[in-house]
Amino acid sequence: MCGIVGILGRQPVASSIVEALRRLEYRGYDSAGLATLEDGRLTRVRASGKLHNLEEKLAAVRLTGEIGIGHTRWATHGRPTEINAHPHASDKLAVVHNGIIENFRELREELTAKGHVFATQTDSEAVAHLVTEAMRQGAGPAAAVAAALPRLRGAFALVFLFNAEPDLLIGARRGSPLAVGWGAAGVYLGSDALALAPFAHTIAYLEEGDQVIATRAHVVFHDAAGREVERRRQPLLAGSFLVDKGNFRHFMAKEIHEQPEVVGRTLAHYLDLAAGTVRLPFELSFDPKTLSRVTIAACGTAYYAGLTARYWLERLARLAVDIDVASEFRYREAPLPENGLTIVVSQSGETADTLASLRYAKQHGQHILGIVNVETSTIARESDTLALTLAGPEIGVASTKAFTCQLAVFACLAIALGRARGVLSEADEKRLVGELVTTPGLMADALNHEARLEPVAHDIARASSVLYVGRGVAYPLALEGALKLKELSYIHAEGYAAGELKHGPIALIDDNMPVIVLAPPDATLEKTISNLQEVAARGGHIIFIGSARAREAAAAELAGFVELPDIASAFAVIVYAVPVQLLAYHAAVFMGKDVDQPRNLAKSVTVE
Ligand code: AGP
Repeated sequence: MCGIVGILGRQPVASSIVEALRRLEYRGYDSAGLATLEDGRLTRVRASGKLHNLEEKLAAVRLTGEIGIGHTRWATHGRPTEINAHPHASDKLAVVHNGIIENFRELREELTAKGHVFATQTDSEAVAHLVTEAMRQGAGPAAAVAAALPRLRGAFALVFLFNAEPDLLIGARRGSPLAVGWGAAGVYLGSDALALAPFAHTIAYLEEGDQVIATRAHVVFHDAAGREVERRRQPLLAGSFLVDKGNFRHFMAKEIHEQPEVVGRTLAHYLDLAAGTVRLPFELSFDPKTLSRVTIAACGTAYYAGLTARYWLERLARLAVDIDVASEFRYREAPLPENGLTIVVSQSGETADTLASLRYAKQHGQHILGIVNVETSTIARESDTLALTLAGPEIGVASTKAFTCQLAVFACLAIALGRARGVLSEADEKRLVGELVTTPGLMADALNHEARLEPVAHDIARASSVLYVGRGVAYPLALEGALKLKELSYIHAEGYAAGELKHGPIALIDDNMPVIVLAPPDATLEKTISNLQEVAARGGHIIFIGSARAREAAAAELAGFVELPDIASAFAVIVYAVPVQLLAYHAAVFMGKDVDQPRNLAKSVTVE
């Protein structure tokens, strides 16, 4: 996911653009650049790699322009080289882009035939030449952009800077977020509030299809039909976006350790702690009694939260659940029940596949419940019912606190739906809520044992492939654990239902393949221990995550043991996420990997 920023300032803007780009680093990128305008001359400076490469180049030039645009690029078309870095430019303008232009090849052919010379392999450069062509035909900047946008297929957030316009930035959004900020020193455009927080005191968000025409004195919004519209301007509390690592080495470590607090905060938002019952902070846009089935669509870690929730929704609310990764869901053309409920789960609220699934489900008459961490995101705004996770900004690319907050919301929702459907008694509700509220404290306990877990992580770091196994609600956590290890340490890993081992994967077992067994204390524990013993009998390298009592029952030689308390809770798996996250984190740190921004990854994938 790329990051874009534009500044209409009253003093040189280059250093502010770099500061904004630094706050967009968390989105994942592999090159960066900026352009400023001074006396009709547009100067571009770009570099591959991280921002310090761009800053080295900037130190060699004196950019005093008081208007400019900047970009952090996560390569989609064309390698992450300086030449492919944004801004892309013509003889009339420069542009930065977040998203994918799907029809760029036909545009490129058409424009090349009209004499435009392309310098890069990127889809974004086609936008620069398309708007330039309209200007060559006599259109002014705003009319040229308005004429070009309908020609584009795909997702974009765009910001344009024009050679002949020292007091104009034009922005547009379709599928990728864009915001406008107002500050004492100027007007700002950016991908999100984090980028604008150091400069702006108020902020407004473009809606789908909007364009914005910004000068230092006026900001005018047009909707997709070209009508002038108002967009709500709201305070931007810079403090609430104060993002730093505190005394942690990485954002991911900080966010793992924030979990007791943010899971507790999320639970408090969904529970009546005094009454010991669930109290959802929103009205349901559907009648739970008429629901026959729930559909869930999400990606990556958010998908594993949904997989976990399937067990709870089926068991506690007696609801059948159909769940799929969002990138597959809408292409299945699955029949959806009339007036059914579709739940989409997304930390960023901008994941293109999940957003497309939301829109597909909405087109097919579904009520959309969005479990989202960013309240101002597109998915949040397009959901009929918004179930916020209160994890706070999650900067580490690998999702941790958002995942456990998603589980907390799902747990409350399953209980609430069970009660509303008359299949869960008040006594059961109080028992389950009583178990749920112990979760933050148990997570804190698990974090206190972090040091004992590091040697186990170092052992895993030496492997070339790792197996995670679990049964019941621990099976989705096995999948999540494998994803964490893959995306952080680049070690191949696979999550498996423990009962499935004997149907093939057990052939893999030898002393070089660590098998991480997740054994929360539930009805499947005995069977999980049997599967562990099958692995042990074949000389497997077993790492056991469970209670001392379960370890004793396993009576097997273990290569590693991560002890958790004997948790009597239907939601113990939320606590088990902590050691799973810590194992991946410490393995990656031990290997010297870029923990907060793993290679090839983006914090939110806004392309399909
Ligand atoms: C999780 O660690 C990954 N970074 C990734 O799988 C992520 O969960 C997925 O891209 C979904 O993102 P979202 O929750 O913002 O929609």
